[in-house]
Amino acid sequence: MTTPAPFYLDCDTGIDDALALAYLLASPFADVVGIGTVSGNVSAAAGARNTLDLLALAGSSHVPVAVGAHDPLAGSFAGGAPWVHGENGIGGVTLTTAAASVESESAAEMLVRLARLYPGSLKVLAIGPLTNIAEALRLEPTLPSLVESVTVMGGAALAPGNITPVAEANIWYDPEAAALVLAAHWDVTLVPLDVTMASVLEESHRQELLLSSAPVPRALGEMLGYYFRFYEGIYGRPCSAMHDPLAAALAVGAVKAAVAPVVRAAVDTSDGPGRGQTICDLRGLYAGYPPVAGARCRVVLSLEEDFAPHLVETLLGVGLSPTAPLASAGSVA
Ligand code: RIB
Ligand code: CA
Repeated sequence: MTTPAPFYLDCDTGIDDALALAYLLASPFADVVGIGTVSGNVSAAAGARNTLDLLALAGSSHVPVAVGAHDPLAGSFAGGAPWVHGENGIGGVTLTTAAASVESESAAEMLVRLARLYPGSLKVLAIGPLTNIAEALRLEPTLPSLVESVTVMGGAALAPGNITPVAEANIWYDPEAAALVLAAHWDVTLVPLDVTMASVLEESHRQELLLSSAPVPRALGEMLGYYFRFYEGIYGRPCSAMHDPLAAALAVGAVKAAVAPVVRAAVDTSDGPGRGQTICDLRGLYAGYPPVAGARCRVVLSLEEDFAPHLVETLLGVGLSPTAPLASAGSVA
């Protein structure tokens, strides 16, 4: 019998964040004990709205949601990415408004509280800008000794950026926070564009979700319709990357990396053209990435196998409690 690990999820619920949350809820390896939101794809408050409503649709309204940082450590919220995620952050899809409301604590306060509640076992998965994680490190400097692992969707090691030629969105929205998180005394698994842009969800996969008898996969399939239209301009066909759910699958251990060296990594916090770049020292490439003294950043560069089939199979199970009878065709789970 698998014992699910306690997870704190920090997100900017957008469309791929919604897939990541749904994935965690369906995974037998994860117990989502708290969610914090941060401004990125949408404002932290709007992300919390989307998160509460998706939790309710999945029958998981018991999971607490805390609103985190509206602005990055330096500067102010840039207004989101409606051209990617829609004005409401989930592709214009309207979910029933959840009865649950957000917690009174901040996301950073929630993370610190949960790390103390689950000492040595809490897994942290950050799939938005890292402002809340940096704030939690300020609130509790011993945080690295309390958490079991930290997985971050963000950055670009050898791949181009997606918001500037060299910077990936989660890092670019708050480079100062990202620099603090990568410099902290913990091991970080970085899931960069190098691997997330190479893992594509196709229209056939989206159709499987749309044809589900369960409401969550159907809603995700509708959200992906908006997301696919953005990515069609990049890939030349209706499809999308799977940034956040891939980070979730790696964090729970359901998906294995093929190449993931542990290297030194830093973030450019200058105001020049390199701002927000993740500088990963991959000079060990030609020697098979020998161990590097003091290195703590595991950079996932490739996967052992295609991720999309596993993602769809898992998402089709969202909201179906383990004891519930399988939904027959046409029924609603
Ligand atoms: O660059 C992709 C990342 O930025 C994803 O986490 C997406 O949701 C946005 O937050
Ligand atoms: Ca995200």
